[in-house]
Amino acid sequence: ETDTYILGIESSCDDTAAAILHNGKILSNVVANQAIHYRYGGVVPELASRAHQQNIVPVVHQALAQANIDKKQLSAIAFTSGPGLMGSLLVGTSFSKSLAIGLDIPLIDVDHMQAHILAHFIDEEGFDKPDFPFLAMTISGGHTQIVRVDDYFKMEVIGQTIDDAVGEAFDKSGKILGLHYPAGPVIDKLAKQGNPKAFSFTKPRVDGLDFSFSGLKTGILYFIQKQVKDNPNFIEENLTDICASIQHTIINILMDKLVKASKQTGIKQIAIGGGVSANSGIRQALKDAESQYGWKPFVPKFEYTTDNAGMIAIVGYLKYLEGNFADDRVVAKARTSF
Ligand code: KG4
Ligand code: ZN
Repeated sequence: ETDTYILGIESSCDDTAAAILHNGKILSNVVANQAIHYRYGGVVPELASRAHQQNIVPVVHQALAQANIDKKQLSAIAFTSGPGLMGSLLVGTSFSKSLAIGLDIPLIDVDHMQAHILAHFIDEEGFDKPDFPFLAMTISGGHTQIVRVDDYFKMEVIGQTIDDAVGEAFDKSGKILGLHYPAGPVIDKLAKQGNPKAFSFTKPRVDGLDFSFSGLKTGILYFIQKQVKDNPNFIEENLTDICASIQHTIINILMDKLVKASKQTGIKQIAIGGGVSANSGIRQALKDAESQYGWKPFVPKFEYTTDNAGMIAIVGYLKYLEGNFADDRVVAKARTSF
């Protein structure tokens, strides 16, 4: 087997990330989080681009150092070309183009959402790879999709959100409760100590395999406002129960559609990806579905759930093996292309 080393670069949102992949294995996976956005309660695009510019060279140096390889050993550079924030994508795109021309190696453009799905093909001990076809539910701060995957680069979106992404549902609910951004992991942690049936929130009614989360957010807001009017300490006194109930509702919404998708397609290999797949509730729900529905679930290793460059590098490797390189004139795209 030949030695192929891929440098993956991810800069689509607020994480600057670089990873080195040797054939199918990750040697290093470095992420610089941008804490700057915490105090604004969300990602500020201008600040994100600026932070990417500051972080990108140190992050790449760190990835090379941790992998213990020299940049001259690299076979190709894979970068996120979209979807994402334009200013953020431009930093990674221009950097990757320049480094590829400097090292005289191929450049490979990667779709961020495909990467969340294909992260399951990273060689990891204890993690199986799905066979084709499988269903992938990508759940993140920017997307909520159910994708039918027939081959590495043959996929079809069969359901998606018509408004907010599921990560936004977590983050916006958290904001109502006064939790810092991103609230998903905080709600997850607090939910573990609460009663998921303490409060009930109305689930949206959306046709087919599509999702909607904006109504849920409004429902939670009105509920909290009403309760706080009667008892100003309502949130503090019930925080774990509120979090558990919100999480329970969101997971029910996701699982309902996933069950429907599996029934419609007859596919029982079910993979999840994206930041929200780090959630312990959804992980448990998938585990339960193993006996309940006879599914074979695929849950990514924790470090490949939220945005990372390891997932970009594996897509880079799969494209490298096919000789599928980027055009010299490749540009960043704010919207997804598949
Ligand atoms: O994939 P990702 O890192 O970035 C995007 O492409 O959006 O996803 C970030 C989202 C945020 O909304 C964050 O709150 C959510 O993933 N998230 C979680 C958890 N960890 C991250 N949501 C629920 N439970 C978690 N444990
Ligand atoms: Zn993502």
